[in-house]
Amino acid sequence: MRRREFIALVGGALIASRRLYADSAVASQNPLIRQYNLESLQGEFTPIDEFYVRNHNPVPKDLASLALHIEGEVQKPLTLTMPDLARLPVQRLAAVLECAGNGTGPYQLASNALWEGWPLEDVLKLAGTRANAAYLHLEGLDGFVRSVPRSRALQDALLVTRMNDQPLLPDHGGPWRVVFPGYYGMDSVKWVERITVSDTPLKPTTNDYLAQRQGANGVETSPLPMIQMKSVFVYPAVGAVLQTGRVDARGLAWSNGEKIMAVEVSPDGGKTWRVAKLDPVTSKYSWRGWQVPLELNDRGLVELLCKAIDAQGNSQPSERPADRTDGYADNQIERIRVMVT
Ligand code: MTE
Repeated sequence: MRRREFIALVGGALIASRRLYADSAVASQNPLIRQYNLESLQGEFTPIDEFYVRNHNPVPKDLASLALHIEGEVQKPLTLTMPDLARLPVQRLAAVLECAGNGTGPYQLASNALWEGWPLEDVLKLAGTRANAAYLHLEGLDGFVRSVPRSRALQDALLVTRMNDQPLLPDHGGPWRVVFPGYYGMDSVKWVERITVSDTPLKPTTNDYLAQRQGANGVETSPLPMIQMKSVFVYPAVGAVLQTGRVDARGLAWSNGEKIMAVEVSPDGGKTWRVAKLDPVTSKYSWRGWQVPLELNDRGLVELLCKAIDAQGNSQPSERPADRTDGYADNQIERIRVMVT
């Protein structure tokens, strides 16, 4: 029996609750920060109550009365409620959401969902943006604010109300949030109550969610790139104890929408590489499963590596650039150690 099923069974007998988070790691209760254990994935999408959560503030209380104000460089400033928005045609899109601060290992600030909502461009058209509209300042009801180029609305962005065919949970921004597929999660503002269209970006007030480099004259900052291509092991997990012989390794790979052409896996610390079998592409922004049989014949501590390669032949970097002083957008080749007995 898998660990999850066992805990669900035991927990179910004790307390009839689905919210045991047996497969998640809670780093903070309030504001909630919860990592998703990839090992529990069955199928393509992360179940909604296991999807990672990264909240900077407590979930706002008065969500039922949320309205969306669109103002600034627009023809017609508007306040939209659910019935106003519900007149727009809906779209569905499978996409990975990954926090820029996500690391490696099975516990991830990354998950995959089938999102449903209204194209952000259609929502903006209701107010009609002016010619000088260059940025969107997105403000959540919790006070969290992000500023993104206006053109981002044209890149498959949605104002989402449903996730995996269920209403969006409050932890994930319900009743609505923005999702910018292919971009790190911080811009996908939850509980959006105001979109201010502007000709200038908002100046960041902290170094949060900025790339930082040690330059000649001190630390230089720049915006983070789109999601960096990444591949991770689901099985075996770091620290696993395995028997000699064949191991059916499997994992996941994702990117900013750029097609992943291959995943290669090394059973011997990077000396040799095997090409993994990739699951079919279901959506350009969704993650793809991969599998490869490995022969582990030497006993002892063994380092396994995996890396993804895109259509341009780009691969994941083997090292983090030495001048980077932030921890964001880290996608260096995944290395895990397992014990072969
Ligand atoms: N939006 C609001 N209003 N408040 C937040 O704290 N966190 C951001 C983004 N949108 C945040 C937010 C960050 S850093 C991430 S990674 C994603 O939401 C996480 O979305 P999730 O919690 O639904 O997984």
